[in-house]
Order: sequence, then C-alpha cells, then structure tokens
Amino acid sequence: MTVTQYLADWRPYPFEIAETRLEFDLAPKGTRVRSQIDFRRKGPGDLVLDGAGLRTQSLAIDGKPLDLSLISKDDERLVVPASALPDSFTFAAEVEIDPEMNTALEGLYLSGGMFCTQCEAEGFRHITWYPDRPDVMAPFRVTIRSDKPVLLSNGNPVSRGQGEAVWHDPWPKPAYLFALVAGDLVAIPDSFTTMSGRKVELNVWVRPGDQDRAGYAMESLIRSMKWDEETYGREYDLDVFNLVAVDDFNMGAMENKGLNIFNSKLVLASAETATDGDYERIEGVIGHEYFHNWTGNRITCRDWFQLCLKEGLTVFRDQQFTSDMRSAAVKRIHDVQTLRARQFREDAGPLAHPPRPDNYQEINNFYTATVYEKGAEVIGMLKRLVGEDGYRKALDLYFIRHDGQACTIEDWIKVFEDATGRDLTQFKRWYTDAGTPRLTLSEDWQDGRLTLHFRQETAPTPGQPQKPPRVIPIALGLIGPNGDEVLPTTVLEMTEASQSFTFDGLGARPVVSLLRGFSAPVTVAREITADEQALLLAHDTDPYARWQAGHDLALDALIFRATSGTGGAEFGQAIGGLLTDAAADPAFAALCLSLPGEEEIATTIAARGGVPDPDAIRTAREALAQDIATAHEAELARLYDAMETPGPYRPDAEGAGRRSLRLACLGLLTRIDGAARAQVLFNSASNMTERQGALECLIAAGKDTEALAAFAQEFGSNRLVMDKWFMVQPLRATPDQAVARARDLAERADFDWKNPNRFRALISGLCANHAAFHAADGSGYAFTVDWLMRLDPVNPQTTARMCSAFETWTRYDADRQAHAKAALGRLAAMKGLSRNTSEMVTRILA
Ligand code: PHE
Ligand code: ZN
Repeated sequence: MTVTQYLADWRPYPFEIAETRLEFDLAPKGTRVRSQIDFRRKGPGDLVLDGAGLRTQSLAIDGKPLDLSLISKDDERLVVPASALPDSFTFAAEVEIDPEMNTALEGLYLSGGMFCTQCEAEGFRHITWYPDRPDVMAPFRVTIRSDKPVLLSNGNPVSRGQGEAVWHDPWPKPAYLFALVAGDLVAIPDSFTTMSGRKVELNVWVRPGDQDRAGYAMESLIRSMKWDEETYGREYDLDVFNLVAVDDFNMGAMENKGLNIFNSKLVLASAETATDGDYERIEGVIGHEYFHNWTGNRITCRDWFQLCLKEGLTVFRDQQFTSDMRSAAVKRIHDVQTLRARQFREDAGPLAHPPRPDNYQEINNFYTATVYEKGAEVIGMLKRLVGEDGYRKALDLYFIRHDGQACTIEDWIKVFEDATGRDLTQFKRWYTDAGTPRLTLSEDWQDGRLTLHFRQETAPTPGQPQKPPRVIPIALGLIGPNGDEVLPTTVLEMTEASQSFTFDGLGARPVVSLLRGFSAPVTVAREITADEQALLLAHDTDPYARWQAGHDLALDALIFRATSGTGGAEFGQAIGGLLTDAAADPAFAALCLSLPGEEEIATTIAARGGVPDPDAIRTAREALAQDIATAHEAELARLYDAMETPGPYRPDAEGAGRRSLRLACLGLLTRIDGAARAQVLFNSASNMTERQGALECLIAAGKDTEALAAFAQEFGSNRLVMDKWFMVQPLRATPDQAVARARDLAERADFDWKNPNRFRALISGLCANHAAFHAADGSGYAFTVDWLMRLDPVNPQTTARMCSAFETWTRYDADRQAHAKAALGRLAAMKGLSRNTSEMVTRILA
C-alpha cells in the first residue's frame, strides 16, 4: 500500500510536551523502553502517536491503563480519543524491541556490539510510541541501564553510576534528534571555551584501537566551533559535546543534539589510511553536523517538506567553512562539479523535484542532491542578491526571531524580506519549482557597444509542466582581446523570460566571462569560439569562470570526438600553456588537467538532444588523454617530479593541491610509460592519497595483480581501507572486465554486504564506471539489480537510495533501455519490496 503525504495536509499537533522521560534497559533482544510524556492540550483533536515494530507491554494515562486495542491494525498508530483526555496528562508506555534484529539501521540497533540509534527522519517510532514529527519539541530526560562501559545520550550528564547513566537535555527538540549510544568505547578528550567563557567538554568516541586515527576529527570540531562563533555569532549551548564513530550507518553523519553520530569513515583518518579527499570531507562533515546545532536543532523544520530549510542552509554553511579553511576557488569548483554531476542529473530525469517538494511517499528518498546541494545554491543566490550585509542582517534576525521554533521556507524568506526590504515573491520559485533553467546568451557588437540578449527556459519536470521565469543573478565580467579585464564582476538580475543588457564605451570587442563564481545553478548555451575560450582560460580573473572555460573547451572536443571522430587540438594547445605555470597553482592546474568524466559527457550530449553512446564516449576520452600525454610528456614528467611533497604528510590544502596535480600527471603518464611511475609510487608512497592514486592507475593499466594483493595483505583488517580496495576495482577496471570483476569480488568472504559502506563500495563503484554500468549487453544493470534485490529486505533505505543509478536510463539507445527496463521490472515485481524502493522504482519507470 502506498500513501502519499502532501504539504497541503499539514495540521498543527493539538498538544505540546512539557517533558519526555525515557528509561532503557538495553539488551540485544528484548530491550525495554519505558516512556513518560507530559502532554498539555493546545488545540482540538485526538492524541495520535506513531509506532513501528513495537511489542507493546502496557499503556497508561495518568497511571490508568489504556486498552491495547487503541493500537491500529497495522501496529503503526495509537489513537486516544479526545474525550478520554484531560487538558494535561502523562502518557506512559512500556515496549520491547530487538536491536539485534534491526538490519535496516533505523531506530535502535547494534553495530559491532555497540548499541546506537538513528532517528532521522522517522526512526524514533521504532523505539517507542511518540508524536514522531519535527514540530513537536520537548526537553528529554533519559536513563540508560546496561553493562556497557560507556552510556551516552543527548544533553548534559546528570549521573554516571555503575551500569546506569542519566542524561538531561534542556533544549526542546523533536524526536528525530534523539540519540543513545552504549558500548565499549574510548574517548579522545579535549575542551573548548566559548566566546562567553563557558568551558565545554569535548569527546570523540571510537572503538579501542582507533584512537590514533581520531585526532583530526577533534581538531576539525574545534575549528568548527570557533568558526561558527566568528562567522555567525553562534555559540554552543551545552556543557558537553560528544561525537561517536560507528561502522554501520546508512548515511554520512547525524546531528543529534549534543551527541553527533558519524559513519566511521567520516571520523577516522591517518596519513597511511585516509586520502586528502577523506580529510577534507571529514572536516567538512564535522563542520556540517556541528553547524546543525543552530540551523536544524535550535531552529528546526515544521515538517519534512521543509527539509532544505535545515539542509540547504547547513550545506551552505559547511561550504563557507571549507572555503575559509582551505582554498575558496578550489572549493567552489569542486562544489560546482558535484552539483552538476548529481543534482543537474537528478533535475533532468524522472526523479526531479523542487528543493521544497510538496508530496512524497517515503521521506527517506528525499535526502537528495536537490534538497542539499541545490538548497545551498539557492542560499548562495539569495546572498548575492542581498549582499554580505543584507545576508548577515537576515541571519541575525532568523536566529532571534525563530530560536526554539519549527519553521518553514516561508519563515526563512520572510526574514530576508524584513531584514532587507526586498520583495522575494519571484525568488521563491527556486524553492517550489524543479528543473535546471537553461540560460541562452547571444551578443550584438556595434560601435563600442555590446548588447547581451539572455533567454531562460526550463523544461517540464514530473508534475510541473509550466515553468515561469525565475530571478537569475548573472555575475559577469568582460575580458579584452589582450587579456585585460575591461569590466570587473557585475551582477545582472534577470527576471523575465528574455532580457537584454547593454555595455557602452568599449574599445574593442571583449569576451564575456559569464556566470562568474557560478552565480546561479543553470546550464549555459552561448556561441563562443575555441579561441575565446582559450583567452578566458588564460586570463579570466574569476577562478571558477577560468576553469569553466577550459572545461568547456575539453567538453566540446570530447563530444566532437565521441560523435564524429576528431577534435581537441585547441584544448591540447591550451593545456600546454597551462602546464608552463602549473606549479604556481597546482590545485587549479590539476582541476584543469582532469578531463570531464564520461557521465558528464553523456549528460551534455543528452542535453543537446543526442543519444550518448557509452563506448564511443569512453573511446573518445581515452584517446584525448592519450594525445595530451603524448604531446606534453616532458612537461608532465617534470611536473610529476616537482610535485613530490617532501617531509611528513600534512592534510592541508597546499599539500593536497600538489598531490592532486601529481596524480593528474600520473594518470596521463601511465598511458605512455608502461605504468612504471605508478608502480614505483605505489611501492614507495607513505600516504594513502598517493597509494590509492597509484593503485587506480595500475588497475586502469591492467597491471594490478601484485599491487592489489599487497594492499589487501597490508590493510586486510582495516574495514575503511578495504572499502577503498573494493571500490577502486569495479570503478577503474576497463569496461569489458569490470562487471566480471565485481561479480568475483562479491563472492569473497569479506564482502560483508550488510554493511552499507562495503555494499556501496562495490556496487556504487561499478555504477560509477559509466561504460561498464551501461554495458551494451545489460550485464551492468542486471548485476546491480541482483544486489539491490538482495539488500532490500535487509536495508530498504540504502537500497532505495542506490536506485538512482538508474535515473538516466531513458537517455540511452533502445537496446540499453530494454535491458534497463527489464532489470528495473524485476526489481519492481519483487515480492515484499519495501515502500522505499518501490517508490523509487515507480518514479524511475514512470
Ligand atoms: N541529517 C543528516 C545530515 O545532513 C543526514 C541524515 C539523514 C543522516 C537521515 C541519517 C539519516 O547531516
Ligand atoms: Zn545535514
């Protein structure tokens, strides 16, 4: 049975809660949960509570037992009629649950012998009867009884005795922010003194033996706390902050009040086991979860349709944090790459939805790139439109006006209107309308006057056939033919479907540096010659626009090759110019040197109305890389040597930039040196960045047998490192071998597929190998679906999320479509398919 939830149906909850008291007697089987909830009536209506999979022992109101027949047939609702309720009362329940059987990792479960919880979005109902909706907030008092040495919950500790701990969280919170952890854990302790002088105890909790890899997480936490004070004036509000690493986790991490729970891959890092990318993500996600304390926890969401209120804003904040800690230019380019790869793809297919959707079947399917990454882009646009000052004023007002509340996107927009006096009615469409606008530019040049004609169009998306024009902030500059900037960054505000802007008094015809800083999440169609792109790549003052010019040059060359055979000379030449001073800005040079991926090439061909051929795309990309390597061998070899990072490994932006350029060179050189350098680097590197980089080159070159064995020998007992080993093989193997390899890997005893990280490493590794996943014989699709069918009964959330590998299936040729459809049809027809996966497959096939 599928039930669709609608935003329009939201009604206030008729009760508020003065306090929630919980008592846990933990056991793998038969954990007892006693709850007491002090309700006060606020409006008319019955008492409706949510539950899922609970063995209810008793229910009572003010001590008087309630009949268990008040529980609905499907066991998911408990309704006490209004007539049976005084205005204030205490509801009490005693239930039993089995953490050990909980493979879905939602609610209370066991991970490697440790009890932990995951309650967002609707996991708390798996723990006890409760109004499991974000707009019902309460202070919590939690008692945990267990023989595990470390017992944690939200808030401040009240008592920590033998086998029992009591925690009190004074800040009213919705149930999705509840957390409990009980296990054999050790802490990396530290402390932080807040701007008003309060000392906060900090702990990063890990399994014994992992302490030496938890230091970077603690440093990142301290940097986050300081940054939020300095940048947003936000101070931490409890006496302790605990962060726990768990091995079995569906997502990245979770912002539970005062007790963040993290996937261990986003906590544990050492030079030998984590890459530069891992370090950057750890810092960014620790920031993200910490920043939620204000944007998400103190101010939460009224309902799940408003998810981007907390996620878009918190992503925006973590992006700002990373730019401040590292390189703003590199961070922006990375973010644009992710947005294009994940969100534009989502927006162009059957799963397209607005940042604030107005209906869903399963909320867990809406933790998407659109809600997160596009949600952040929308805030970036807002900031550009109102300016730094306006943004700061609006945020200050948001924190003052809405502290302690559960809010909507309307509340958010209103603070910007009130703080700046702007009318944001049209801007709101970014939140309610799906799809990526296409911005078309044509130019007129006459007598020193340049006229820019812009058009915007957005293709229909599911349920939204009409797309009225949006406000588009277009940041641009003008670059003269000699490379000088003749107009610094200027923001045009486009509000109509088509609109023209004029620039007078120009000496010679300039080249437009368009969409600087990627000022709006749109695609661009414009006429520009390869020479003009090369001019921007050489001279643009905006790093994003400069990178984009080179990227477009490469993309055009690749598409030309993939569809008609030749091309790419201009890009090859431009690269030559870039390599000469690459050492001045290695991270930037590395970004320019890495060719657009096969997936992006396919997306672009489809967006231009073509049918992408995965094999031809692969061939074209390989050939262009080969040409570049051959043409620039000497320069690449020189840079490869120059980019060695001497001394002990440091995970900072500078070192990471040098290593990324080094590996970009290595990827090209491996094509012509018989993988000699990759072999040497694999054997000699002392950090995982270069180790893994070299291994990927060896796999691509088909010279990986010994390296893979050595790697497994060295890291066999480290789960996180072995996830990399499982991932890089299907990802980097040549398309003719990747599926067979994935199949072999799946047979291994250490393919512990019930662990989400391990499952994703192998299966998503294959899905990300474009030509292999889209193999003409359908073997990539079939293999993926076989495993999704296996995982669904065990872990519906992770299964459903991974269905998005299929969201582009209608782009390809008829034979591939037939294979994809057959595979998806098998999944759709599976008996007992979860609601999560069923919604995804239905939407993808629609
Ligand atoms: N709220 C978490 C975050 O963005 C993500 C999450 C969602 C984690 C659902 C677990 C379950 O930081
Ligand atoms: Zn978040």
